[in-house]
Amino acid sequence: MTIQPHGGTLVQQFNPNASLEDVQNSIEVDVMALSDLELIAIGAYSPLTGFLNEEDYHSVVQTMRLKNGVVWSIPITLPVTKEKAQELQIGEKVALTYLNVPYGAITIESIYSPNKEEEAEHVYKTTDREHPGVRKLFDRGDVYIGGEIVLIRKPGKPFPNETFEPAESRQYFENQGWKTVVGFQTRNPVHRAHEYIQKTALETVDGLFLQPLVGETKKDDIPADVRMKSYDVLLKNYYPQNRVLLGVFPAAMRYAGPREAIFHAIVRKNYGCTHFIVGRDHAGVGNYYGTYDAQKIFSNFEKEELDITPMFFEHSFYCRKCDSMASVKTCPHDEKDRLILSGTKVRTLLRNGEPLPSTFSRKEVVEVLVKGLNVPS
Ligand code: ADX
Repeated sequence: MTIQPHGGTLVQQFNPNASLEDVQNSIEVDVMALSDLELIAIGAYSPLTGFLNEEDYHSVVQTMRLKNGVVWSIPITLPVTKEKAQELQIGEKVALTYLNVPYGAITIESIYSPNKEEEAEHVYKTTDREHPGVRKLFDRGDVYIGGEIVLIRKPGKPFPNETFEPAESRQYFENQGWKTVVGFQTRNPVHRAHEYIQKTALETVDGLFLQPLVGETKKDDIPADVRMKSYDVLLKNYYPQNRVLLGVFPAAMRYAGPREAIFHAIVRKNYGCTHFIVGRDHAGVGNYYGTYDAQKIFSNFEKEELDITPMFFEHSFYCRKCDSMASVKTCPHDEKDRLILSGTKVRTLLRNGEPLPSTFSRKEVVEVLVKGLNVPS
């Protein structure tokens, strides 16, 4: 039996036959809300059945829990403009459109004005508009609409062969006979430190679910289509085929560091993972979070509340003296012997046309990135 979904039931709010005939009004959603709509409907955000209502919103922002006490760390909200909000009424069912195409509907439970300064302070630990998550928060509408949703049309699948809904990945793990599965979140091409922590985790569990985030990211992150090619060549050349599943996570990146690590873990549990990797500065950006804050935050919760087991990893790097990958926990050598790896560094070297050594990234991965990003090789 696979791990229980968060809150006990895998939510299913997709109904292609649901009628929009009784619907008078519509809300045009942004890319982030469209991906959230789908993720709610397919159960990735279980136990959420809709965008947060006012009570749950305040509870999540202030306590990292829904009103009923279930752990939930990131507010999943549907923002609209003040003008739009004036047209809407509690109890009304409203179509949710993207580029004027209806994808679903929401039955409005609450219409409320958030205190965004407070949301930013609690969720992102900063109100600095330079933070991409905070900037996005303030760019979106000033009134939130809460209520249960239904999805009537699924957004297109840019990576159809690597798209698994939670029910499908759960089934896959069961068919493979994997009792334990570790989930890996990334918004970067996989470099050697990623590979090292994934394979170290795989030594103690049955399977690895490599689940790159392919929803909205900040402009200077490497585009998902290039990254997907890089994962393919990496898996083909360096991973055991019968132990790894590559599947996309279509959510938007929040860059909320510690809170997003909890969110990422809960969602991966819904996809059927029993374990989840949290390395250094998980889901971080710039210097807003301490290196291990995203690990420390897990101590706020009882083990049974999250159920999924976090696997923490220290900062990993290539050490010339060890002549292997290592971490601050396992390597006795000096800083100067260590090749420090990070997604940011990979992106910078690539953009400057500088070589990426194989101690940094596998040569097949570098080839794909150089080609995909059109940088001089
Ligand atoms: S993100 O989605 O968390 O922003 P990123 O690709 O940067 O994605 O990292 C993916 C995972 O690998 C995270 O858990 C992160 O903490 C971990 N990680 C990245 N680089 C290192 C490293 N050098 N050492 C240890 N963990 C790392």
